[in-house]
Amino acid sequence: MAFIVPDDIERYAAQHTTPLPPLLEELTRATYESMQVPQMLSGQLEGTLLQFLVVLTRAKRVLELGMFTGFSAQMMAAALPDDGHLITCDIDPKALEFSKPFFDRSPHGKKIEVRLGPAIETLKTLEGPFDLVFIDADKGNYIAYYERCMELLSPDGIIAVDNVLWNGRVLDPKDDSDRAIAAFNDHVNRDPRVQNVILTVRDGIMLIRKV
Ligand SMILES: C[S@@+](CC[C@H](N)C(=O)[O-])C[C@H]1O[C@@H](n2cnc3c(N)ncnc32)[C@H](O)[C@@H]1O
Repeated sequence: MAFIVPDDIERYAAQHTTPLPPLLEELTRATYESMQVPQMLSGQLEGTLLQFLVVLTRAKRVLELGMFTGFSAQMMAAALPDDGHLITCDIDPKALEFSKPFFDRSPHGKKIEVRLGPAIETLKTLEGPFDLVFIDADKGNYIAYYERCMELLSPDGIIAVDNVLWNGRVLDPKDDSDRAIAAFNDHVNRDPRVQNVILTVRDGIMLIRKV
């Protein structure tokens, strides 16, 4: 599903991006067959970008807020070294029920730890440092997630935040989610502790690092 980028450009970019492994092709198909909002799955372009971030940060510890069917968790885990570890959080037991058999079938599944429950509560129980954080859960909590993740982030770590362009609705926010994303973008942009950039990939991804 294309968001900001025209469909034909999105297709071309996908065709010229490393293909997914068969297990993640299958996971994607199964997500579209059985989940109510399958478009939440980030997909090949964003997943591959996340793999680059894992490699470029030489990440050993990754934190994800918003697991869904485990696509992005699997992509990032595959780029981690053998002793790497990824904690992924979701509130929905169905997400765990779906993703667990796929984690079990992946050679990288052993690197993934799932924490079920509201991410804001899980975050209180976690200890840093994390080298890479991917925020992709409920939009209303983005600022709270960001503030806690800044505490948990290693000095050279990166926070990647999904859906920051929200299908263009940040330009003219109308509902609570629109306003929450727009407020989040403004919040980070005003934060003197960080450098940030919005990539116009898929639905907009903000990369944040401490300065
Ligand atoms: C956009 S999806 C994540 C997609 C996934 N990262 C991927 O790329 O395939 C968002 C997920 O956040 C979860 N979520 C929503 N509210 C949450 C909360 N308060 N705490 C933890 N997870 C939450 C939803 O259940 C959903 O699975």
